[in-house]
Amino acid sequence: MWKNKFHISPPFGLLNDPNGLIFWNNEYHIFYQWNPNACEHASKHWAHLKSKNLVDWESLPIALSPNDWFDKNGCYSGSAIEKDNKLYLFYTGNVKNNNVRESYQCLAISTNGVDFEKKGPVIHDKDIPKEYTKHFRDPKVFIKDGVYKMVLGAQRVDLTGTIVVFSSHNLIDWSFEQEIINGNFGFMCECPDFIEDKKNKALILSPQGIKADGDLFNNRYQSGYIIRDLYDIEKNDFIELDRGFEFYAPQTFKDENNKNILIGWIGMPEELEHPSIEKENWVHSLTIPRVLEIKKNKIFQKPHNNLKKLRKEKIIIESIYLENTIDLSRYNISGDTYELIIHLNDFSEDIEIDLRKNGNERTTFSFDSIKKRASLNRNFSGYGYKGIRKCYLKDLKKIHIFVDKCSVEIFLNDGEEVFTGNIYPNKDSLGIEIRSKMLFTIPKIEFYKF
Ligand code: FRU
Repeated sequence: MWKNKFHISPPFGLLNDPNGLIFWNNEYHIFYQWNPNACEHASKHWAHLKSKNLVDWESLPIALSPNDWFDKNGCYSGSAIEKDNKLYLFYTGNVKNNNVRESYQCLAISTNGVDFEKKGPVIHDKDIPKEYTKHFRDPKVFIKDGVYKMVLGAQRVDLTGTIVVFSSHNLIDWSFEQEIINGNFGFMCECPDFIEDKKNKALILSPQGIKADGDLFNNRYQSGYIIRDLYDIEKNDFIELDRGFEFYAPQTFKDENNKNILIGWIGMPEELEHPSIEKENWVHSLTIPRVLEIKKNKIFQKPHNNLKKLRKEKIIIESIYLENTIDLSRYNISGDTYELIIHLNDFSEDIEIDLRKNGNERTTFSFDSIKKRASLNRNFSGYGYKGIRKCYLKDLKKIHIFVDKCSVEIFLNDGEEVFTGNIYPNKDSLGIEIRSKMLFTIPKIEFYKF
């Protein structure tokens, strides 16, 4: 009853980070961390899917399995890059002998995009500089100024988190360059990434151990970015990418139009009280693909245009006078897999929207125009984790919501802020209700059933 319809989720077992995202030979490839044996963090394989349009996905055989001496305790996260028309995957081979960790940065190559030949480690455990522990993982490889770079999440021997860079001219021989974090990023930084467009650059990271600070950093671990160039080590202003509950270990890639696209994991390490485990033997999903744009020193995230292909039935209503409460079922609007766009006026009004509503069950998004706070409340969502997340937002002009069987993604003002999370409602909680203490007219509501 909770298996998502348009978010990528595993057929069974546990999904975590998106890996190896790439547009290669006219097709999109997505891999993800998958434990096919149980809904727990062990035995990580790389599951593999491909698509022509980022919407219709075809499952392919498992790309990487943890069955070699250099990855026997898990083919951990990594990335993809093309060279000479071949698909190169870089990943971390996790090895544990008598509970002593070793980390190998490994390469696997494919010529047909289906079968991957493991080439073994390109950076050995013994090559990890002595300043770092064996928490050394998640290679993201890209080209910068004509040279291949690999950023890796690392932990210093004083048990603080950082990111390091290696470089290479051939993708085979790698040399350590330097550390690129200066500042307090907890005890470990996972899944680093780097994006640039003509004008702007950003370092993306998933630090573990940042303390909560008011509305900020309330999840167990964070994922966010610093607007800066790769080696701009003095810049530390860290901004969360998502304001919701579950969002971690995102990765970027370029789509066919050379736009930076981001996909994240709708999940959080060490949190496994998800009702889908007991009831349906699977857990976690990936976010929809989001187009990134850096504006005003901030990353904006918009749902990828191709998602419009999901739209089946369309209902548009205009000039809706909001007098107290409106139950959208009066316009035939309800469901558990849909896209809802609410266009608001230029002057922001208070608004509350209940999703997946039935009786007292509801997941509520709200905006308080005095406190200038947007929030998502899942205290009455049904089963699973509860809580409220909030963020500062100056004005609210547009709310763009994607609802799936157990996940919601809410984009505000064309991606200025995003709230992502899992909810586990009962299957007949299908209502949508809009309320406000103010009287005003909503210019337009668009609803698309998937
Ligand atoms: C992030 C992470 C990565 C690691 C992978 C293992 O969620 O911990 O650092 O490579 O998951 O599945």
